[in-house]
Amino acid sequence: MLKKGYCFDDVLLSPQFSDITSRSRISLASNLDDRYAFGLPIVSSPMDTVTGDNMCVAMENSGGFGIIHRYSTIDEQRAALRSARDQGCVFVGCAIGVTGDYIERSSALIESGCSLICVDIAHGHHILMKNALSKLRKEFGSGIHIMAGNIATLNGFNDLADWGADSIRVGIGGGSICSTRIQTGHGSPTFQSVLDCSRSDRDVALIADGGIRNSGDIVKALAAGADFVMLGSLIAGTNESPGEVIHRNGQRCKQYRGMASIEAQIKWRGHTSSVEGVSSHVPCKGPLGLVLGGLETGIRSGLSYTGASNIPELQRKSVFTVQTSAGATESSTHIK
Ligand code: IMP
Repeated sequence: MLKKGYCFDDVLLSPQFSDITSRSRISLASNLDDRYAFGLPIVSSPMDTVTGDNMCVAMENSGGFGIIHRYSTIDEQRAALRSARDQGCVFVGCAIGVTGDYIERSSALIESGCSLICVDIAHGHHILMKNALSKLRKEFGSGIHIMAGNIATLNGFNDLADWGADSIRVGIGGGSICSTRIQTGHGSPTFQSVLDCSRSDRDVALIADGGIRNSGDIVKALAAGADFVMLGSLIAGTNESPGEVIHRNGQRCKQYRGMASIEAQIKWRGHTSSVEGVSSHVPCKGPLGLVLGGLETGIRSGLSYTGASNIPELQRKSVFTVQTSAGATESSTHIK
């Protein structure tokens, strides 16, 4: 079977009549479920160079939320969760795996006030995910919000929803530090996966994850049906991301690495298995609030071009054009 998959750069949203007279009148509110609503549809990725306690606090202050990574002991993860509470954070997510201590870990985190459990594995459309979701629901009931992923297809989305997920991370192989497609030949353009999964009739939030490079990609992901976007590289290197500032070629940088990179695997499990990520450095970007503020301005402007005053209206009205490769060149700045 052969199907076509479009990525962010393959498409553009068509500008439409707009009666939005001020971008400040646009709402970017999005619901994670019946209980949890956020002012900004952005989530920070559960990676050890992206989300710890400080990132959760800063994400909440900007209207989104963070998910503390799982690559630490239970005590360390719980300490990060508590520290985000101590700093006034109301909503904190925590990631877990599907083997080993994941039930004990979830129990400790839920007892310590975690608001969301994120079942975080590379290939989420998997029997181990099914078993883990069933166990988690049996153990903790429906009171706790469970995010699960990642998946790349509508079948995967529907199965995870039916297995008990409340929200689902969509995107395989698109991350900036990801080498899954090179290592395994598998993946799907994140934009196409979002478009496919948005056809689901399940009442589950869709989180577009991997490969989002700018506010334009965020607008396209939301228009294609995402309720939230998850960010890694765009917010790595902020003051609130974990890690030391290092100097490279006269520039202040922080490490940003895939959780399946050699460096990350050595750190969290002492050896490497299938290497599906790389380690890199990103320039220091200052406070998260400034970075998200810039993105938010672009997103608001994007909704205004479609004539949408909120995300559901954007999703109803949006019309995509597939552009040629010459169009993609024209779409980036091209002054000679
Ligand atoms: P980015 O926003 O393009 O940098 O992508 C971040 C996303 O990449 C994360 O939220 C994960 O879904 C994914 N990811 C993180 N680490 C790895 C890895 O080592 N290999 C493949 N994907 C990864």
